Amino acid sequence: MKEPERPAERRSKRNRSLATDILKPEAGVDKPKSTQNRNRKQLHDPAEDLAARLARKVVGQPAATKVIVPYIQMFQAGLAPEGRPVGVFLLLGPTGTGKTKTIEALAELLHGSEKNVLKVDCGEFQMEHEVAKLIGAPPGYLGHRETQPMLTQQKLNAVTSEHCALSLVLFDEIEKAAPSMTRLLLGVLDKGVLRLGDNSTVNFEKSLVFLTSNLGARDMTREMNPEFGFQSAHVADRADLTSKLQSIGLSAVKKKFSPEFVNRIDCIITYQPLTVESLSTILDQHIVDLQNHVNTRLGERSFTLDVPFDTRQFLLQKGTSQEYGARELNRTIHRYLTQPLATMVATNQIPPGARVLMELGEDDKLNINVLDAGGAPAAANPTVLLVDDNRDLLHFLERLMADAGWTLLTAESATEAKQLMQKHKPNAALLDYMLPDGNGVELGVEFLQTAPQMLVIVMTGTILPPEEEALCEEHNFPVLRKPFLASDVMNQIRSRLAPITARA
Ligand SMILES: Nc1ncnc2c1ncn2[C@@H]1O[C@H](COP(=O)(O)OP(=O)(O)O)[C@@H](O)[C@H]1O
Ligand SMILES: [Mg+2]
Repeated sequence: MKEPERPAERRSKRNRSLATDILKPEAGVDKPKSTQNRNRKQLHDPAEDLAARLARKVVGQPAATKVIVPYIQMFQAGLAPEGRPVGVFLLLGPTGTGKTKTIEALAELLHGSEKNVLKVDCGEFQMEHEVAKLIGAPPGYLGHRETQPMLTQQKLNAVTSEHCALSLVLFDEIEKAAPSMTRLLLGVLDKGVLRLGDNSTVNFEKSLVFLTSNLGARDMTREMNPEFGFQSAHVADRADLTSKLQSIGLSAVKKKFSPEFVNRIDCIITYQPLTVESLSTILDQHIVDLQNHVNTRLGERSFTLDVPFDTRQFLLQKGTSQEYGARELNRTIHRYLTQPLATMVATNQIPPGARVLMELGEDDKLNINVLDAGGAPAAANPTVLLVDDNRDLLHFLERLMADAGWTLLTAESATEAKQLMQKHKPNAALLDYMLPDGNGVELGVEFLQTAPQMLVIVMTGTILPPEEEALCEEHNFPVLRKPFLASDVMNQIRSRLAPITARA
């Protein structure tokens, strides 16, 4: 096993610890943010944004992003053809390379939740008679009233959202489906319509249909260098491998499905084995997620994770697997980080505000060192500015924060908020996205210019427009989707302010 290098090393040299990543209120005073934002707006292209955001979530599969996004754009422009689904994609490639993740990520970006996908596990429809589960039994059959078809118009509509009428439909592991199901699918792909057992129809003209399959995956694995990870240094080899994998996939598909079926697929996308660089990015994402999880779940008992370079290298090495792709990495993180941490939390071995250093020890073990124990009294008594024109929420939080000994300032507009900000210099600001005279994200960015240490949290009842979401990501603003629990807000503020107060 070759030592994975560079990207993580670069990160470590810049000495960006996880803690600063999460806690820094983006003190980037060196660049004038307002100009930057103006530029971003002028250049704003929604498709570009969606592509970039999808690529951030599905690492190292640029072909997939590039192929899928134009179909969504076509739908959003009202130019999708009638009488067929908006797009039909067959996703091929080795296990754990992001096929299913792509659809979940799209669901999150379009509808606000990974769960907004109508998913059919084709493994459940291997026998001819099981297809009735999918479309319901015809009238006259015993028990036809009790069989609730899996695919109904109602279920299809339920995975859309008020922001986007495009539904995502996933037929997972299509190679396992019985031939009768493939025939059924043929109608869906061809006409965009499925006729149910009770003779009603389901319309897929506002759907993207994804078929995933590991057809050819075994041959693909054999084709890939069995000894090493996929160092991107060998660019030529990689391009070569890409086209080899594609042709393996295609010939497996042609062997399994009829030409009519294959003809109705708009794009066949072959997912690539993940490179060491991609796995390293995925690892970093998981560690950031873990820290965020600690912050929201533990609230005032939360702590700061520190996972140094050597440890990350170790996790990468353990978690690299040709056979299982990033799944192996997920398992490794669970085994070496999440589980041991959970045990320590459960047995009260980590005091609030501590720095938990995950150090590489001997014998393939990680030593968990709890540092700064006993320091950091969790956020003293912060002053919090709450800007929202929802009076009920204002009053509710006011009471709660007063009970916790915090000072709460409230404003119902951006103008009012700016005045309070100047006068009282609060530690944290909780800003509603929709304000009568502006928007909370831009207000937050403005606040950071005079108070770079301030914690800004954005609340919203809708999905943020892409440029605002990008701003939140850039400035590390947590976004709370309404409705949320009051304890979520309190915990966010407590956990994020605690270490800052401790450092001061
Ligand atoms: N390209 C990727 N980018 C980010 N995470 C990934 C990627 N590929 C796999 N993963 C991680 O591995 C898990 C399994 O991936 P999945 O998409 O279900 O694999 P498959 O290709 O077999 O459908 C995902 O939940 C995600 O955490
Ligand atoms: Mg999958």
